[in-house]
Amino acid sequence: MKITSKELRQKWISYYEGKGHVDIGAVSLIGDGSTGVMFNVAGMQPLMPYLLGQKHPKGKRLCNVQGCMRTTDIDSVGDPTHFTFFEMMGNWSLGDYFKKEKTEWSFRLLTEVFGLDKDKLCATVFEGNESVPRDTETAEYLQALGIKRDHIYFLPKSDNWWELEGTVGTPCGPDNEWFYPIDVNAENPSFPDDYVEIGNDVYMQYRKTETGYEPLENKNVDTGFGFDRMLLFLNGLSDGYMTDLFLPVINKLEELSGKSYAGGGEDQRAMRIIADHTRTAALLIGDVTGVLPSNTGAGYILRRIVRRAIRYCKKLGAGSEAMLAAAKIFIEEIYGEAYPLLKEKEEYILSEIKKEADRFETTLAQGIKEFEKCIAGIARKNAFMAQNDPAYQKETVIGGKQAFRLYDTYGFPLELTEELAAESGYTVDRAGFDEAFKTHQEISKVPAGAFKGGLESHSQKATNYHTATHLLNAALKQVLSPDVNQKGSNITDERMRFDFNFARPMTEEEIEAVEALVNEKIKADIPVEYREMSLEEARKENFVGVFDSKYGDRVKTYSIGEFSKEMCGGPHAARTGELGKFKIVKEQSSSAGVRRIKAVLE
Ligand code: ALA
Repeated sequence: MKITSKELRQKWISYYEGKGHVDIGAVSLIGDGSTGVMFNVAGMQPLMPYLLGQKHPKGKRLCNVQGCMRTTDIDSVGDPTHFTFFEMMGNWSLGDYFKKEKTEWSFRLLTEVFGLDKDKLCATVFEGNESVPRDTETAEYLQALGIKRDHIYFLPKSDNWWELEGTVGTPCGPDNEWFYPIDVNAENPSFPDDYVEIGNDVYMQYRKTETGYEPLENKNVDTGFGFDRMLLFLNGLSDGYMTDLFLPVINKLEELSGKSYAGGGEDQRAMRIIADHTRTAALLIGDVTGVLPSNTGAGYILRRIVRRAIRYCKKLGAGSEAMLAAAKIFIEEIYGEAYPLLKEKEEYILSEIKKEADRFETTLAQGIKEFEKCIAGIARKNAFMAQNDPAYQKETVIGGKQAFRLYDTYGFPLELTEELAAESGYTVDRAGFDEAFKTHQEISKVPAGAFKGGLESHSQKATNYHTATHLLNAALKQVLSPDVNQKGSNITDERMRFDFNFARPMTEEEIEAVEALVNEKIKADIPVEYREMSLEEARKENFVGVFDSKYGDRVKTYSIGEFSKEMCGGPHAARTGELGKFKIVKEQSSSAGVRRIKAVLE
């Protein structure tokens, strides 16, 4: 290789250290919950408070190589260029230098350190719109540096504007993107068809609001260059699995399966999927925030990734041991140095992958039987209908509810059902699955029985605490995120304990906000309304709670105005005014991804 991954990391960091930047190292792959984005999808995500104006303890010039995850492309993994995990080489100016320095440094790094040909470089800048001016300044700097005039393009917001999609209150701005020919030896490459983006410099000087953008006090720079892509590119390779970030793993998979990667086809695709998913799984389990396979949130993504990898190990004719062997190589040889926590947690990571593989194993055979029954059912119906009506259009879609049953009962990630379906010429109703999934999530937030075990006595005091639990649950959802769900509770006459999923400690402000909201509802003296209804009605009315009844069953519900609606057996206070003053005495970690609040009524 012309340049190894280790050298590339060093070159990026030392170049920016040479320009007064401090290497802040990589942090968690998991979003901190502040934006509603589950994973860090860009190197800037953990730096958001500082881009918005908070002072960073390490100064105004920062750099790192940050692990990121984007799962939207999971279905494309298997080709040479799509991955679920990648690293972003970043550097930032927090209200310090701006366009002049940044264009020069990016340019010199690319041409002088990485040896790219300046005559082949192309750059795009923001063409401007009614609220943000055209970026002629950046274009002028680029030209002065020696980029050909006709290699600089002004493009609209859809191309040259960077923001975290679907968020509000986050920093954003116009950007300058850098492009280089896909084939470095091409004679006359034409832009954009023959070019690939290699990185961008975002001039973050706006804050996204509900309705538009407002200027930030600081003019910041947020730079991101794809580490994996740059490595590929600088080595003149076109297959991402041929760099030193993957090659030892691919070699091992070949050895264990006796199959050849170079032969292409399904074996090659399987090796890529196993390699990509194993890397992501190891990094997620070994992350500081520590994710474990589960049926919700980041845990569900992890479960899908592990199970998909295992399935492809089988397709390749190697057992789940192949995944474990691959994980070992990623930890020990490839990422252990850049991510020391991986090495520390090696045994734990391997044993968690093994456990998930074993869980999958026990339900796989049953699930496949169930799947086959489902296909046979559709085939029977098709045959019957065709008998009576020769023009009958054959059904080829597996219903969302059936796909959900495979997921819920047999642990089949949707992709697995889709892949099995495709092998038999069927598709799956994805929207139907999502709907079934959502309904399930809303009503199964608490493990069955959690309340039953949780409420130990029925004294008035305990009853009041029980009602406070409902207020707290609703307040957490409102203050932190609608994705916060109750994971357990325990009540005595003296205090309540409440566990819920959330990836980081709550801030002091958040604790205060939750307390204030609960106390506001207590002060409003809202009647606690009890109603019995069918499960379907409860579901329609968005009640949350234990889902251990069958369709058609009557369920007990309690609402506190529109603020809190839960299915629950009670008992409860008659009005919130009876509770007294609510106070959180402790907020601490309970287990991975689960926080625990201890609170009292005074
Ligand atoms: N935030 C920019 C990106 O992700 C640098 O590309």
